[in-house]
Amino acid sequence: MELLDGQFVSKAIQDSLRLKVAQLKAEGKKIPHLAAVLVGNNGASETYVGAKVKACSEIGFNSTLIRLEASISENKLLQVIDELNNDMDVDGILVQLPLPKHISDEKVINALHPSKDVDGFHPANVGRMVQGAPSFISATPHGIMLLLEHYKIDTKGMHAVILGRSNIVGRPMSILLSSNSQPGNCTVTICHSHTRNLRDHCQQADILVAALGRPEFVTAPMVKEGAIVIDVGITRVPDASKKSGFALKGDVKFEEVAPRCSYITPVPRGVGPMTIAALMKNSYHACANRNEGSLA
Ligand code: GUN
Repeated sequence: MELLDGQFVSKAIQDSLRLKVAQLKAEGKKIPHLAAVLVGNNGASETYVGAKVKACSEIGFNSTLIRLEASISENKLLQVIDELNNDMDVDGILVQLPLPKHISDEKVINALHPSKDVDGFHPANVGRMVQGAPSFISATPHGIMLLLEHYKIDTKGMHAVILGRSNIVGRPMSILLSSNSQPGNCTVTICHSHTRNLRDHCQQADILVAALGRPEFVTAPMVKEGAIVIDVGITRVPDASKKSGFALKGDVKFEEVAPRCSYITPVPRGVGPMTIAALMKNSYHACANRNEGSLA
């Protein structure tokens, strides 16, 4: 069993971006500027946005964190997005999800200019990704593909089983793994809350992507010997022994599943850091597109 070390790979990607930013600066060109919008004070969202802003500063990107009250109206939020769309210095915009219940995720995502949608959530980017055209690809599936690429895992012909059909992870993951690319060229099954015989599907998986947000859901008997297991889950569970009062749990029962795997991602230090690396890569490209005068 080999660990897919997201922390290590993410750092390597961020190091290479830092060099590219230094080069942009030396050439007198614009450097990437990411605007992050955080609505309310959900603890997990605060942590994720904090990590994204910190990564920007470590790489040398500019970043702006816009904190808004949970009570902000949908119209006011749409106005903030409009301003960011029109701000010539801002290359990428991310609106951390989930949003408060009175705000429509769909309206907010649709309001982003596709050329600044570094989360890859806008329908124009999703559509282009499905067609295999250049697009921003949402950070978690993009990060997983970068991880498979780094470890040179030849996924051609493999059966990938994805647990979860979210727009952020499961669905784009299914498109990417089935696309005619390396990594890719997999036969893909998506499982969800209405799937019958879930365990049987899991046992068929050469690659098992667990993205359902249910701590330690995947146990050893569900995993085929030699499978590649990608754990996207990161749930806070109460843990009095931790200073923070919680521990982070993946969707996979790591201790019992890991010995069966050829490769497995740990939690933390697996998919999480790769999500940041992918977002940073997208933000760099958003800026590069603008430096080249193309609003792809
Ligand atoms: N919430 C959970 N994952 C993500 C993500 O990748 N981007 C944003 N904006 N919100 C999220």
